[in-house]
Amino acid sequence: MNDQVQARAPFAQALREVMGPGIQVDGNFASRLSTATQSNQQQTNTVFSDKWERYEQSDEKSRLYQFQLDWYLKLYGFGVESALREHLAGCKVIFDAGCGLGYKAEWFARLAPHALVIGMDFSDAARQAAANYASLPNLFFLQGDIANTGFQPGSVDYVSCDQVIMHTEVPEKTFAELARIASRHGQVACYFYAKKALPRELLDDFFRVHCQRVSREELWQMSEQLTELGKRLSELKVTVDAPDIPLLGIKGGRIDVQRFIYWNFLKCFWNPELGRETSVVTNFDWYSPSNARRFSEAEVRAIVSANGLDTVFWHAEEACYSGRFVRP
Ligand SMILES: C[S@@+](CC[C@H](N)C(=O)[O-])C[C@H]1O[C@@H](n2cnc3c(N)ncnc32)[C@H](O)[C@@H]1O
Repeated sequence: MNDQVQARAPFAQALREVMGPGIQVDGNFASRLSTATQSNQQQTNTVFSDKWERYEQSDEKSRLYQFQLDWYLKLYGFGVESALREHLAGCKVIFDAGCGLGYKAEWFARLAPHALVIGMDFSDAARQAAANYASLPNLFFLQGDIANTGFQPGSVDYVSCDQVIMHTEVPEKTFAELARIASRHGQVACYFYAKKALPRELLDDFFRVHCQRVSREELWQMSEQLTELGKRLSELKVTVDAPDIPLLGIKGGRIDVQRFIYWNFLKCFWNPELGRETSVVTNFDWYSPSNARRFSEAEVRAIVSANGLDTVFWHAEEACYSGRFVRP
């Protein structure tokens, strides 16, 4: 047995215990036979596979990853990395539900070398993640549906579902699954898209249906065009003192014109610090998956309490609600 296989063996054993029988582990990649039969989920998987395949090649990746890790600490109330490390120190099994290219799972695995870390994604990104992060013995990737993990009940001490649940077929069922696999006193950290102003919601809903008949090439082109629009609007450096229009959910106040259009009418993301490619991918990420539910605060709180979880940390910002929820 070489050193790598030897180091991985106890974690592979722990993985088999979490996953139950019928699991095939090959190095750091495992799979369970499960296919997305619903057309929305299939479309969502395909567009995410496409997104990750393109983004994997991007020079802007490390900038986005750093931004994402900093944001994660804020979204889930850790503030600083050492606080997350301290939290993970008490966890034996950590699950990155909807891990994409796997950089957050890798982060958890580095911060908690004693713990088994599992990253799961329904798209082909899971396989890419396994190839990218093959050197950590405690880190495994699975291609599968986080709404139907097959994990043993109560087997995970920290479930992280960051920017994913709204892309699953029925987010309520997905959350119930994440709550089911959380151990006693284990936590589920989860992020939900927030509902925006009515004009933006109407366009988003209409487009989600429409985009199923649009080719991926056209969606990429549109994402480029939206990025260019966002850039041109923000270069105007114009602010508007908008009135409150409560019936349409439009909040008043002085606001940059690009942000005003962005939050109320049309997502046209542009962030020069993150770069052009990342901005295009962010627009693609918004408009291409046909699964992308938005929630009110009351809806999120109802989902959490329906699953018997208590809120230990809550965060709200214009784009989202996020929190950590514990099984008492
Ligand atoms: C916006 S990305 C977020 C990825 C990662 N969590 C991050 O923060 O960078 C959403 C991911 O959720 C995955 N996803 C959507 N529905 C899923 C499901 N039912 N099961 C597993 N993964 C899913 C997509 O394939 C995609 O990689």
